[in-house]
Amino acid sequence: MCGIIGINSNKPVSSTIINSLKKLEYRGYDSAGIATLYDGLIDEVKSEGRVNNLEKNSLVQSMKGTIGIGHVRWATHGLPNSINAHPHSSQYVSVVHNGIIENSTLLKKFLISKGHNFKSQTDTEVIVHLITENLKTENIVNSIKKTLKSLQGSFALGIVFKDQPDLIVGARRGSPLAVGYGPNENYLGSDSYALKSMTNKITYLNDGEFCIIKKDHVEFFDEDGVKVNKKVLELSSEEKSYDKGDYKHFMAKEIEEQPTTLKNGIKEYIDNSNNDINIYNFPWKTNEINAITLIGCGTAYHSCLMAKYWFEELTSLDVSIDIASEFRYRKNRFKKNSLYVFVSQSGETADTYAALDLCNQNNMKTCSIVNVIESSIARDSKFVLPIHCGTEIGVASTKAFLGQMLILYIFALKIGLLRKDIIKEKFTEKIKDLKTLPKLVEQTLLTDNKIQTISTTFNEAKGSMFLGRGFSYPIALEGALKLKELSYIHAEGYPAGEMKHGPLALIEEGMPVVILAPRDSYYKKTISNMQEVIARGAKVLLITNKSKDEVISENIWEKVEVESTNDDLLPFLLTIPLQKLAYYSALKKGYDIDKPRNLAKSVTVE
Ligand code: G6P
Repeated sequence: MCGIIGINSNKPVSSTIINSLKKLEYRGYDSAGIATLYDGLIDEVKSEGRVNNLEKNSLVQSMKGTIGIGHVRWATHGLPNSINAHPHSSQYVSVVHNGIIENSTLLKKFLISKGHNFKSQTDTEVIVHLITENLKTENIVNSIKKTLKSLQGSFALGIVFKDQPDLIVGARRGSPLAVGYGPNENYLGSDSYALKSMTNKITYLNDGEFCIIKKDHVEFFDEDGVKVNKKVLELSSEEKSYDKGDYKHFMAKEIEEQPTTLKNGIKEYIDNSNNDINIYNFPWKTNEINAITLIGCGTAYHSCLMAKYWFEELTSLDVSIDIASEFRYRKNRFKKNSLYVFVSQSGETADTYAALDLCNQNNMKTCSIVNVIESSIARDSKFVLPIHCGTEIGVASTKAFLGQMLILYIFALKIGLLRKDIIKEKFTEKIKDLKTLPKLVEQTLLTDNKIQTISTTFNEAKGSMFLGRGFSYPIALEGALKLKELSYIHAEGYPAGEMKHGPLALIEEGMPVVILAPRDSYYKKTISNMQEVIARGAKVLLITNKSKDEVISENIWEKVEVESTNDDLLPFLLTIPLQKLAYYSALKKGYDIDKPRNLAKSVTVE
């Protein structure tokens, strides 16, 4: 999704802005642009498509400005073309914007009546003209304050002014924004990953705040224009150089990294010598909690659904799950004894953040499970459980999904033990099994060749279905989502037992159907559902776990076997062939695997 970079320096900034924009590419975008200030003039260059197109433009290469802003845009208002790309500029001011201005139509009418001319179809351009209008009567701070108060919706902004050669303004409401500090230069960024290549000293703006970035210092203001003091945080530098290595795509690397990332997660939470789980400083007593609500979007929502099964199995809590974009607008009955858990890889997803904010406003117990520990969701939750799986760049989440599931499983086990819902012996047994998981994932990753061949059939089909029951149902949803995201093939995930209530009508001769039927307590029921689709002509890919008992069915098209373990952990293993199926199918189609069309890694608009 959209990304912002700003640099105020003594040296020309265009090439550093371009390099930083490249770091933001993983978020998903469709156009890019840059504006620098030189000799009292704003130079602006924009292009459709990738940052490479922008970089190749000779105007960018000759930019001499030592202060500038850059942007990658994920279209909301207006087509993804170079006119709608950011920055948007008037004669006096240039603006980059993440988010959506909800009252832009009204503001535009007002500004046109004042004589302003609009060039683009974007909502962002109203900000440019509002600031220009306010500058007629106000100084910089007051014009920004006044402009921000007129805006409804969400934004992170980077602004440069024609006659201010040592000043970038940053402002935030709803969308994340950070300031970075360097030697004789300072930075603005929507994402600490992009800033990390320049500095590890960062300050995050809170909602409603704005800042003035000069070369040698930064001032922060609240929404009323009153100066505020902010802390400088030191980020760990361990992930500075995360790259693809010898892999063709980040996604391929991230799939293969899963044994290691799971090992890291286990190391962080499992006390090896006592076979116990360490969760330090949990702020509530477990007897103060009798219900849990798990909230997320996309893949993170699927890990919430998975966790519902585990929490119901291992604890006596009431468990509900919710999609963040639905939860935030419903009339929720907030309950004092409920724990609200927010699951998010990026920690910046706008809907998940809004759901968290709503719970905080209602004084609820809030906890987040995130990958990016400096993120807004992590900072504003009352308790955080990091997933420790390292930077994830592929838009389609893989290692973060397994990481989220791991922490949710560990959390369910620990709560179950503390509440005495499971006995110590059972708990210890499960911890021992959990420690073998990274090895089992490593072995399951070897199903590679078979999946590569199978993926051709999916590419040739009109659509496909992914079916599972119980613990395998969330994985069926995730498998279908991965295939949709990467190969643009219609894929539906369904509870296998629901097929006869409608979707069975879709099955026709030769349609590929993935059946997730590990040998758990649902196995026989799922196999019966498999027979029902085979009888109607489906080409069934059965994914099960290794066993000495053969599957009794003559008409299975293909079979892939994952390793065997206890029922709770099978979902981790079933996920692996589905990730690979989506990867190879997109690879054969020649699609942009790490940046699928229309999608974004960090969805900072609702
Ligand atoms: C986007 C990504 C998905 C991700 C979802 C939630 O749609 O493309 O892969 O699952 O956002 O993101 P989060 O960062 O909150 O986990």
